[in-house]
Amino acid sequence: MNKRKYIKEHNINPITLIVASALDNGKIGIKYQSLKKGSYVLIFRNEYFKDDIYLFPEEIKWDLKDYDYVKKDNPFYDISFYSCYAELDLKDALGIKFEYIIVSGKYQTEIRSFETQNNLKKWSYYSFVDFQHGFNDVTHKLINNLKSLKKCNLMLCSGDLTGTSANYYEWQWLLDNNDSFSDVLFNSAVGDHEYWAKYEVHASMFKEPIPYLNIMPAANNGPDLEKNKTYYFLFNNCLFVFLNTQDSDTVDNENIQNQLVWFKEVVNNNKGLYDYLIVYMHKSIYGSFENDTRVRKMMRPMFYPIFDECKVDVVFSGHDHRYSRTHAIKDDKLNQDGTYYVDLGSSGNKRRVYEEEVDKDPLCARVVKIKEEELAIGAIVNVDVDKLSIDIYDQDLNKVDYLEISKKKR
Ligand SMILES: [Fe+2]
Repeated sequence: MNKRKYIKEHNINPITLIVASALDNGKIGIKYQSLKKGSYVLIFRNEYFKDDIYLFPEEIKWDLKDYDYVKKDNPFYDISFYSCYAELDLKDALGIKFEYIIVSGKYQTEIRSFETQNNLKKWSYYSFVDFQHGFNDVTHKLINNLKSLKKCNLMLCSGDLTGTSANYYEWQWLLDNNDSFSDVLFNSAVGDHEYWAKYEVHASMFKEPIPYLNIMPAANNGPDLEKNKTYYFLFNNCLFVFLNTQDSDTVDNENIQNQLVWFKEVVNNNKGLYDYLIVYMHKSIYGSFENDTRVRKMMRPMFYPIFDECKVDVVFSGHDHRYSRTHAIKDDKLNQDGTYYVDLGSSGNKRRVYEEEVDKDPLCARVVKIKEEELAIGAIVNVDVDKLSIDIYDQDLNKVDYLEISKKKR
């Protein structure tokens, strides 16, 4: 195979799939895929850096050639990429905009940017889930419409970034849309589709979410067995914890049990450092009855006592491709001091039909018929001194739900 010809024919940029993410302790991680060794990140001088900064990333060559169930004629299978990763410690840089380009030989990217946390008590961020199906025409519209409504520096997702994680073109479709991802910090929980090597073929799941791990930066502070998949970071006055609810077949294993123990430790270790505790996990323990019945039956009793004990404010999840949101719940019952669960449904076009059983559940406060009305859903979370307020929108910026959560005494 002539690699140069292949790259041209398959429409691959020398630098592709660029993601900048928030890490713990004010650090920022930038990860991207390069076709060649020796690329670098150039951060332009600003009020924080007096001179331009050159970051030479750690470069790890990877491909999916060893997995015979991965589809051939796909760049992840046919060629190797260098997963390039650089970190910046910006804990003293509050509310500052950083602009950067990535350079590989004669090629350089457009200018990209991110803005650091500002330590304010009043700020907002975007929240999404389930961007699949890949190549849909609604995800980027939804993201860009929310961005036009309010400028935020952080965008979080509850997983299922693509349908088939082994498909380079789905990641390219999602991330190489400069309007959507070029000026925010983006973090996601691991969804079950991050394990999928072949669409709709259960037997073809990776044991590890290999493309996700090579593409997404993540704070390296998770429990054993879960490095870079389960993690937390403090951003302004919020503690964000990202849990990994594993692949499509798993609802309990050692990794999940480790995460629950670790979760309590993280909350205890960060006491006094945050006003709100927000969890991102893919599967919805208070979502659909019908979609994945084991999640309600088995995961729910494992997770909610820990969330109660730790006084979680809100859990954002998805996986069901239906929108439902609970009242405050504690001890599996209505309780105004409890936790809100938002199954955001879908920020793409994979949607499931209305489920009456969820709507009639006394714990459920709101259902939106996303399939019947062809809606993609995203949220803007507004953090304030005394409350969180969450505006939930469809792709045309119709507000479909609204939620207020008073600040808890901790
Ligand atoms: Fe899912």
